[in-house]
Amino acid sequence: MNKKIILKTKNHTYSINIEPNSIVRNLKNIITKNNKLVFLIDKKVFYIFKKLKNYKNQKYLVINCSEKLKSFNNYAKISEKILDFNIDRSTKIVAIGGGTLGDLSGFIASTILRGVDLILFPTTLLSQVDSSIGGKNGINTTSGKNLVGTFYQPKLVFIDPKILTTLSKREILSGYAEIIKHGIINDIKFFNWLNKNSEKILTLNNKTLSEAIYKSIIIKRKYVLKDEKENLKNNNSRALLNFGHTFGHALENYYKYNKKLTHGEAISIGMIIAAILSYKLGYLPIDHLNKIKNHFKLNDLPMSDNQMFNDKIFKIIEKDKKNDNKKINFVLIKKIGSAFLSNNLNLNKIKKTLK
Ligand SMILES: NC(=O)c1ccc[n+]([C@@H]2O[C@H](COP(=O)([O-])OP(=O)(O)OC[C@H]3O[C@@H](n4cnc5c(N)ncnc54)[C@H](O)[C@@H]3O)[C@@H](O)[C@H]2O)c1
Ligand SMILES: [Zn+2]
Repeated sequence: MNKKIILKTKNHTYSINIEPNSIVRNLKNIITKNNKLVFLIDKKVFYIFKKLKNYKNQKYLVINCSEKLKSFNNYAKISEKILDFNIDRSTKIVAIGGGTLGDLSGFIASTILRGVDLILFPTTLLSQVDSSIGGKNGINTTSGKNLVGTFYQPKLVFIDPKILTTLSKREILSGYAEIIKHGIINDIKFFNWLNKNSEKILTLNNKTLSEAIYKSIIIKRKYVLKDEKENLKNNNSRALLNFGHTFGHALENYYKYNKKLTHGEAISIGMIIAAILSYKLGYLPIDHLNKIKNHFKLNDLPMSDNQMFNDKIFKIIEKDKKNDNKKINFVLIKKIGSAFLSNNLNLNKIKKTLK
């Protein structure tokens, strides 16, 4: 199944191409078409780059990727190394890797020489269904996750679902968490379809997997089109994509971005907390809450963490600069497929309701 999705924002139009077994061909193509490229490659997929006969003639950096990559330090180090290649403003940065590499590369591409073009080859399920789409990038700070970054759309995105065969089960499930998120916030039909097809997706059935990636991107695109820079505070807000992320990000920060929780695992737990909160506040019917919980249980998505109601987690949420004054912008759901932005919750109320 080959699919092409066009994403057209106010100032940029780009295509997102989904095609199994396409990565080597697409890499060759862009090398033929461009003479100034710098490749940033996740070490775990370097074997693919090596399939290019003349790969040694390219300018490239091989990078160890994990959440820790998204730091000021690495931003500086890698930017300096790219500048050492004597780039100019017509150079394009090509990132081949997961969401952490994509987020860092996007931030570098948007700032180096005040902005050079970015091409993305996402190689994790999470980056294929979510982070490579929509132009958000960033690095983590002690105050919180992704607090320094820009909005910067890529020029092209190439998705090869076949590359996921080397990904661990744990990372596949992490990516799946963002897929189910798209169903929960926007599309009950998609949620029901996932209920039937999750096993095929998690075992990387070619056709079903490609379809899940495609449908996920279509949902994400809706929010990017309506609210590219997340300015809205209504039901069209891009912030709705952050369902599960308030607690999720706080957990990641609490664990200092170590390997205890992947991003997908943290937001899985965050989604369950947000769903329970939606129920306890009287928005979400119990049968919808149960349907969500059952789906998570059935697919082994993490649902809790023994630190999730630790006072420190609430402190981290309070410190998150994305909150307005003392009020938390919290994404809740009225039913499966219908999320909304609640801005009249304060932390005490959330704490009391959950405890
Ligand atoms: N910008 C956005 O809109 C957006 C959206 C969602 C998530 N994110 C960010 O994405 C990040 C998570 O991304 P991720 O889950 O891809 O993590 P990741 O980049 O750390 O990748 C996970 C692991 O998989 C390895 N890997 C990558 N491709 C592989 C392959 N094909 N085979 C085997 N191993 C492979 C990586 O080296 C890494 O160890 C988080 O920082 C999150 O905040 C950003
Ligand atoms: Zn996420």
